[in-house]
Amino acid sequence: MTTQQGVAVSDDQNTLRAGANGPALMEDFHFREKIFHFDHERIPERVVHARGYGAHGYFELTDSLADVCKADIFRNVGERTPAFVRFSTVAGNKGSADVVRDVRGFAVKLYTKQGNWDLVGNNIPVFFIQDAIKFPDFVHAAKQAPDRDFPQAQTAHDNFWDFVSLSPEATHMVCWAMSDRAIPRSFRFMEGFGVHTFRLIDDEGRSTYVKFHWKPKLGLQSVVWNEALKINGADPDFHRRDLWQSITSGNFPEWELGVQLFDDEFADSFPFDILDPTKLIPEELVPVRRVGRLVLDRMPDNFFAETEQVAFCTQNVVPGIDFTNDPLLQGRNFSYLDTQTKRLGGPNFTHIPINAPKCPFHNFQQDGHMAMHNPKGRANYEPNSWSQPAGGPRESADGYRSYPDTVSGQKVRQRSESFADHYSQARQFFISQTPVEQTHMRDAFVFELSKVETPAIRARMVSHLLHVDRGLAEGVAKGLGLSPLPAPATAARPVVEGLPP
Ligand code: HEM
Repeated sequence: MTTQQGVAVSDDQNTLRAGANGPALMEDFHFREKIFHFDHERIPERVVHARGYGAHGYFELTDSLADVCKADIFRNVGERTPAFVRFSTVAGNKGSADVVRDVRGFAVKLYTKQGNWDLVGNNIPVFFIQDAIKFPDFVHAAKQAPDRDFPQAQTAHDNFWDFVSLSPEATHMVCWAMSDRAIPRSFRFMEGFGVHTFRLIDDEGRSTYVKFHWKPKLGLQSVVWNEALKINGADPDFHRRDLWQSITSGNFPEWELGVQLFDDEFADSFPFDILDPTKLIPEELVPVRRVGRLVLDRMPDNFFAETEQVAFCTQNVVPGIDFTNDPLLQGRNFSYLDTQTKRLGGPNFTHIPINAPKCPFHNFQQDGHMAMHNPKGRANYEPNSWSQPAGGPRESADGYRSYPDTVSGQKVRQRSESFADHYSQARQFFISQTPVEQTHMRDAFVFELSKVETPAIRARMVSHLLHVDRGLAEGVAKGLGLSPLPAPATAARPVVEGLPP
C-alpha cells in the first residue's frame, strides 16, 4: 500500500499522535490524504436514470448495411465492435429498488473505428413528450415532489398523473408504462429501442430513415405486479444481481440489432409524423431487419470508474449516422453533454477511459480540470503554417458531414399539426395485447390512480382512456369507483380516420 504520491505506508491502523493518548498531529499526511479523499468520493447522481448497471461486450455485424450506410460498423459482416451497455430505471434515485414500474434505459456505447457512436435508448419504443422543452417538467412531476420529497414508488403520486393527464401526447407512452413492459423479469429479457427516427447515410450522401431495435435472444419476459412487490422487498438489487450472475457464470446475454428502413415517400404515407417520438413505425408495415448481435460478456472491473462515469450522449454519432428534426432528439443533443459536464466535473470527462474512443483522436482542445490529452508540440490552433507533425491534426475529406437537409420556415414556437393525433397508436397498442395483458394494464391503471388523492386528476386520466378503449376506460373507472364516466377528453384531436381499428 502506498499514498497517492507512491510512498509506502507502514501503518494504516493508527493516526500519528503526540503520545499514545495525545492529540492527532497535523503532520500525518497519510491520515489527511486518506480522509480528504474519502470526503470527496461522491459526485452528483444523474438527474434521471440515476440507478443503473452496466456491462462490456461487443457488437457483431451479421448482415451488411453497406448499401444504405457508410458507417464502418455496418459494412463488414463478422466484424466485432467493442461495446459498453448501461441499463437503468428512469425515475428512481441511485439507491432505489430495481423491480419498480418504470421505463428502463438501454444505453449502448459502440467504440467504432470511426469514433464513438452512442445509441441511448429505452425499453419502450415511444416517449412521454414530443418536445424536449417539456422534459424538466415531466421529470419534476415524475420524481419526488419538492415539498415532501417522497422517493420513487410514487409513479402514482398526484404530480405525475396531473402532468400526464394534462399532456394528451403522453397517453401512448403511459399505456406502455402501465403494461407488463414496465416490470421486466430482468435486463436480459428486455427489448431496446432508439425511439427517434434517425438517418443512415450512404457513400453517395443519400439518406434513409431508420428506427433501431434491440431484440433479446431470450425473448421478452416480465413479472406480474404481485411478484414485483415481493421481489423488491426481498431483493432490491434483483436486476443487477441477475446480470452479474449470468455474465460471471458465462451465460452471456445477447440481443439482435434490428432496423426498420424507409424513405421519404414511405414516411409521407404514414398517417402520423415520423419525427414525433410518441409514435412508432408499425412492424407489419416496415418489418424489422436483423443485422447484428450484441453480446455482453464482461462485468466492469470497477462500478464507479465505468458504470457511474460512463457518459452517453445522443449527439455522439459517426459518419453514416445522422439526426432528424425530431424536437425531442434535438433537445437531447444539448442536454447530455451539458449535464455530464457538471456531473463529471468539467469538460474533460471524455478522457476517462470508459468514455474515450478506442480509435486515435486528436484536436486542439486543451486545458480545463483534469486534462489528460492536451495538444502535443507548439501548435494548439489552426490553420497554422507549421508542417507535420509539428502542425498537429488537420481536417480530413472523409470527416463527418451533416446531411444537407433543406430547411425553411418561419421562426415560431409552434407544434406541427402532424403531431396532433395522441390516441390512435395508444389504441393500437392496447388492442395488440392479449386479454391477460389487457387485464394487467387495467389493474395497473387502477392501482396507480387509486393512489392519486385528487379526484379530478383520476377523472381526467379516464377521459383520455375513453379515446384509447372504452372497455379499458370503463374498467378503470369501475376499479376507482368513478361514476358516472367523465366525458372523453377534448384537449386534442381524436383518432385519425383510416387507421386499423
Ligand atoms: C439519461 C434515454 C429523453 C436528458 C438517459 C439515459 C437513457 C436515456 C438511457 C441513461 C444513460 C446512462 O445509462 O447513463 C432517453 C430516451 C429519451 C430521453 C430514450 C427519449 C426518447 C431525454 C430528454 C432529455 C434527456 C428529452 C432532455 C432534454 C437526460 C439526461 C440524462 C439522461 C440529462 C442524464 C445523463 C447523465 O447524467 O449522464 N436518458 N432519454 N433525456 N437523459 Fe434521457
